[in-house]
Amino acid sequence: MTSTTATEALLRNDLDAYWMPFTENRAFKRNPRILASAKGIYYFTAEGRPILDGMGGLWGANAGHCRAAIVEAIRAQVGELDFSPTYQFGHPKAFALASRIAALAPGDLNHVFFTNSGSEAVDTALKIALAYHNFRSEGARQRFIGRERDYHGSGFGGMAVGGIAANRKHFGTGLGGVGHLRSTYNCEKQAFTKGEPEWGPHLADELERIVGLHDCSTIAAVIVEPVPLTSGVLPPPHGYLERLRSICDNYDILLIFDEFASGFGRLGLAFAAERYGVLPDMIIFDIGITSGTVPMGGVIVREPIYDTFMDGPEQAVELPHGCAHSGHPLACAAGLAALRLYEREDLFARVFQLESLWTDAVHGLRRLPNVVDIRNAGLNAAIDLAAAGPRGTRGFAAMDCAFCDFNLRLRAADDTLILAPPLIVTEAQIGEIVEKTARAITAVA
Ligand SMILES: Cc1ncc(COP(=O)(O)O)c(C=O)c1O
Repeated sequence: MTSTTATEALLRNDLDAYWMPFTENRAFKRNPRILASAKGIYYFTAEGRPILDGMGGLWGANAGHCRAAIVEAIRAQVGELDFSPTYQFGHPKAFALASRIAALAPGDLNHVFFTNSGSEAVDTALKIALAYHNFRSEGARQRFIGRERDYHGSGFGGMAVGGIAANRKHFGTGLGGVGHLRSTYNCEKQAFTKGEPEWGPHLADELERIVGLHDCSTIAAVIVEPVPLTSGVLPPPHGYLERLRSICDNYDILLIFDEFASGFGRLGLAFAAERYGVLPDMIIFDIGITSGTVPMGGVIVREPIYDTFMDGPEQAVELPHGCAHSGHPLACAAGLAALRLYEREDLFARVFQLESLWTDAVHGLRRLPNVVDIRNAGLNAAIDLAAAGPRGTRGFAAMDCAFCDFNLRLRAADDTLILAPPLIVTEAQIGEIVEKTARAITAVA
């Protein structure tokens, strides 16, 4: 098929049948933003218009799009082993990838449970926490503590511990016994801080209050995004994560970091846990493991937790939990190839090389109309815009305008614009992303 006929075929598609996730379906289908192909830091529309990808896919295309080494690994794998059960059988690449991830993870985070998505990984971590306490005859520990504004996917467990009202309000009460810490974000005290704010570590002490209310003997785990990226890049106040860790230690409560978006380099190291020097009991990872190419998520678990499960009779399934496609050969091949590429091109280190340029560039937008705050962490940034009418209207307009008029893909979370380019971004491309963002902000003022 020539590219012209391919384009025509694509545009003849009926858009009605596909119920798109987390999308304004009717607005989209009136004025669709179709990404038909990708290469490096660019998407291309069906008409071949290049779109600068300011979001690394969805936080995960850290090595850029359609990189030959990853594409070839997937291609070779599908011809060699297309599917293999991971229940009661194994295939070599699942073990190899788990070992690579364990080697990258800090401390004794040594065991990897694969899933196919972040939502499954979150629910897996919560279930491991419950079962772990059960194994230790602490079965009364059934409560979870999440935090306002953190996102933990769309499963019932993740929704319950998540802190975004719009994602919760239509779906009943979900998992019971969940408490929430306050968000660490305070515009008045923190606006336009570069990186981690000074104000706010005391907010971790709220965990003491919640523990006092329920008694520590009922609390299984605390789950947070070390930097809530999805709801608007909220760097942790200096010392906040350390305090959470220390309170959890005092009361034998597990600490889970959801690193769906922060894992695999977006903050300059394999995991945000390393950047902030805080060792959680479990790390949830996802999209960056395959550079966004094949769905894969998972949970990395500390040695003592894993060991607790390995204590019963050898013929018994230690954790009656799993996902049939998890550890899929294509995902494992993609993951191994992505990790090799990250290492070969030293991509995580690029974040530290570019971070001060990135920080100054995005904070240079502060004098534009309607900008009420700008935050950054690693190669991620968020720009809050003043609302215009119903919540999200201005953010949506800016995102749409950036795509349609300035060939830039950014993400809008309500009236917050989010930028997180692939780690291969050049200095010149950072300039281009920021300039195009400025033009979109100005256009919707
Ligand atoms: C922090 C975090 N956790 C969990 C998820 C859910 O992952 P998935 O959409 O793969 O289920 C996401 C997705 O964006 C996320 O950002």
